[in-house]
Formats: sequence, structure tokens, C-alpha cells
Amino acid sequence: MENPSKADPRTVAWVDDTVALIDQKALPQVQRSIRCRTVERVADAIADLEVRGAPAIGVAAAMGVALAAHTSTASELPVLLAELHAAADMLRATRPTAVNLAWAVDQVLSAAVAADGVDGVRSATLERAQTLADDDVDRCHAIGANGGPLLSHASNVITHCNAGALATVEYGTALGVIRAAHDRHPDLHVWVDETRPVLQGARLTSYELTRDGVANTLIADGAAASVIARGDVDAAVVGADRIAANGDVANKIGTYALALACHYHEIPFYVAAPLSTVDLDTPDGRSIPIEERSPDEITRVGDTHLTLPGQSVHNPAFDVTPAGLVTAVITEAGVLRAPYRTSLAQAFA
Ligand code: MRU
Repeated sequence: MENPSKADPRTVAWVDDTVALIDQKALPQVQRSIRCRTVERVADAIADLEVRGAPAIGVAAAMGVALAAHTSTASELPVLLAELHAAADMLRATRPTAVNLAWAVDQVLSAAVAADGVDGVRSATLERAQTLADDDVDRCHAIGANGGPLLSHASNVITHCNAGALATVEYGTALGVIRAAHDRHPDLHVWVDETRPVLQGARLTSYELTRDGVANTLIADGAAASVIARGDVDAAVVGADRIAANGDVANKIGTYALALACHYHEIPFYVAAPLSTVDLDTPDGRSIPIEERSPDEITRVGDTHLTLPGQSVHNPAFDVTPAGLVTAVITEAGVLRAPYRTSLAQAFA
């Protein structure tokens, strides 16, 4: 079977004046691509999780702004720029937690503002979005190279959600580290948390790992602590949606519980993320906005209703792991350790 991290099309790409996305809601049963022809369609794809994962939604949103510039009929520069700011606002509102999205949109907007004339804006926005996509690939490979050696003595690692090729442009952050470690010792085995309620682990991470030839075993999220307790996990590696200036980490709901179990059992808990996920303007985890998603994600499985109508539901998509539970943050700039306020700031410097 082909390896999705190396042979598949990029998770997000600009193809024939459209934004092409791998349809992550259809995987792993159906492999197909979505062609977005309008920025509204890109925003819907992000909100509906057809494309998901912090770096991937950042690049998708960046290309969405470029698409807005390409599809606009504006012939006056101020009109075009006003349209792009409106498109940017719409994209930013789709998902609030992953800072990569707002960061990438702002990058493309600044390219637009600095460009000359409407044609200049059209080419500058696309060029910047393409650069962000290429950079993301480079960042992920650097994260893998920096983090792989941390797992050199690990036989079993655990991961939560999907921070793989599908959550980035290609290769992945947490799965980039795991891929790099697996290249060095191919007997590495991965415990994959299923990741309730949207099941990114069951549907996407096990798919990527299996197709890459990495041994993996799927477990219910609630099984993770007991698998760790019986000594079958040497390290945890997860991705991040936003890392605050003090090192607190927002990631998929359930990450905090995994970090607590690792801490109790003295297992290293690594967070792998590009610096585009670090938000020095957010002082700590309490300031990170946590996306609340539809109750349907919990009360239904497919078309089957699990609860009585009107069931009260709380469905936060992310939680915050305090910096004190994080052994290291693996970035493209190196492996950062506590105190994170200092090491994260230095990484930017
Ligand atoms: O809701 P999702 O699927 O977008 O959540 C994704 C995660 O939480 C990932 O772990 C995170 O974005 C890092 S992806 C490299």
C-alpha cells in the first residue's frame, strides 16, 4: 500500500485555481478530494472538519484568502482589500482554539496589504499561502528530526487525536516524531487513543500508521491510563492547537487526562508543534478560547441517536494541559524544556 505521508497528495493544496483538500470525514473508508471554488466553501470545510488539525486548517485558511482574491471581480484596490478582510474574519471565526488559523490568515493579509494593485494582491496572496504550505512541510520534518531521538529507547509510545500528515500539509508533528523514530527502529509500536467524540485516532491516526507500516493498536481513551499503569507505554507524544507563553498546551479533549496519567506513572509526555502554534500573546492556558462543538457529536453515532431528545451536553473540543505536566515541547527550532516562558521566547528570538 502507498504511504500517505510520502505518496499521497498534500492534505491541502492549490490545484487549478481551487483549494483541494483530502476529505477527512470520508476516511478511512473512502479516499477522495474536495475542490473548494469559493472562500465560503473553504470556511465550511474547516468548520465541518473536512479539513482539521491546527497546521492544516491554517494553510487551508491562508489559501482561502488567496481564493477570495482570485475569485473577486473587484477592480479597485480598496474594494478588493475590504473583501479580503471580510473573508479573513469569516475564516477566523470558524475555529477559535488553533492559533495557526488566525496566524496564517494574518500572514496572507499582510502580503495583500503590501502588494501593488489588484493583480499584485492576487499573486502575492497566493504566493504567501504557497510559502506557508511549503514551510509547514519543512517545519514538520525538522520536528521529526529533533524529536525522533527522544524516542530512541522507547518500544511503545502513545498518542492522542491525529497530529499526522492529515493534520498538517504532510508528514505531521507528533506523527512526524513517531515516523522519524520508526525510521531508526522499525519495531516501534504505537498505542492509538480512539479520541472521542470525533474519533480522529480511530479513523485517521491508525490509518496513517498502518499505511506507513508502523505497528499500532487502537484503544478506547478510557483504557490509556491502565495500559500505562501496567508498564506498556514508554512515552506519550501529542500535537497542540495552541501553546501559551507559559507553556500550557491546548490540544484535543482527553489530552490532559493522558498527561495526568503519564505524570503519575513517570512517563515522559512530549508535545510536538511548530512555532506557528505558539502564541506568546496568550499568557497562559486560562486565556485560550476553547471551542464548544455540537451536542450531536456526543449524542449520535452516525444516524443513531444515543440519548433522549434534549439531553444536556457539554462538548469542549479541546482541553488545556498545564505546562508542569509537559516534559518537553518539540519544535522545528529544537527541543524546548521548562521554564517554558524563557525557552519559548528564546525559540522566537
Ligand atoms: O478538532 P481537530 O481534529 O482539528 O483537533 C486536532 C488536534 O487537536 C491536533 O492534535 C492538533 O491540531 C495538532 S495537529 C498537528
